[in-house]
Amino acid sequence: MTVSTLIPNPASPDAGLFHAADQVIGPHLLGLAGVGRAELTAVLDSAVRYRELMRTRETSEVLRGVAVCLAFFEDSTRTRVSFELAARRLGAMPIVVFPQGSSMSKGESLLDTLQTIVSMRVDLVVVRHRSAGAPHYLARHLDAGVINGGDGAHEHPTQGLLDLLALRDAWNGRFEGRRIAIVGDLAHSRVARSAIFGLVTMGARITVAGPATLMPEGIADLGCEIAPTVEDALRGADAAMALRIQHERMEKSLIPSTREYARRWGLNAARVHRMNPEAVVLHPGPFNRDVEITSEVVDGPRSVIWRQVENGAAVRCAVLERCARARGAAR
Ligand code: NCD
Repeated sequence: MTVSTLIPNPASPDAGLFHAADQVIGPHLLGLAGVGRAELTAVLDSAVRYRELMRTRETSEVLRGVAVCLAFFEDSTRTRVSFELAARRLGAMPIVVFPQGSSMSKGESLLDTLQTIVSMRVDLVVVRHRSAGAPHYLARHLDAGVINGGDGAHEHPTQGLLDLLALRDAWNGRFEGRRIAIVGDLAHSRVARSAIFGLVTMGARITVAGPATLMPEGIADLGCEIAPTVEDALRGADAAMALRIQHERMEKSLIPSTREYARRWGLNAARVHRMNPEAVVLHPGPFNRDVEITSEVVDGPRSVIWRQVENGAAVRCAVLERCARARGAAR
């Protein structure tokens, strides 16, 4: 891997993570930083084919015999379930590991626990961990393909891919000339960071808005414009993405109250109306209705939230296949 650029992580500057400029997806998928446009397009195209497979309730044998460990050391519904479904859809054997039920509760290290699992001829490890850089560390030490299922406030690449797919569908295949507003807790959002890396690469413009306490330093260096208010960010936008306030990543509360937050920064029908007529609303989930987004918007005509969830399973099929293929494990 050639390390040609270093992009500092504004959310956790101490993470010191390196990103090559010409990353490919497989055998590892650690982040979207540095993944080129052709590679992103190829994965999205593959995901569209898997979405068709899912819609017809069919299965594939492409990963028959491949064992996939899902190591989730943080809570998850969408990501974990969709990886498990994707693995099964492709004929693989998913094994789910939680910290509570594993030997990590007896003091074993993360690496030793996963090394144990990989020694049983497990080819792929999907890992979600609170520490930024945990998947990168595992990728260096394990004889397995490592897929980042979310590392701290750093990246969540499969979420970024499913967001790109939802936007590509909504924008008739073109990212250039389009603009998305990302609103809320940018400082703690791995979802936003992966989406930003992917969107910048695909040629879309990004405006971010949120309370100053939740806006990471250096966000402009990633290619985002900063709007002073949510209204400014949404005016004329082609999409909006609301982010959950990630209380669990804060050492102290960074907002006065959720009511105040909803009033100033929440996506509601009147605000959403400022966007272009065809504009869509995204939310990675889990969403807190009537905090960062009103129920009316979640269930409204512009919402593509459930399509994002469907895309999640399809994208994870495409990523699992690519990573298994790069290890010579796919059929
Ligand atoms: C997010 C996550 O865990 O990073 N959810 C997801 O995977 N769709 C975002 C969040 O927890 O707010």
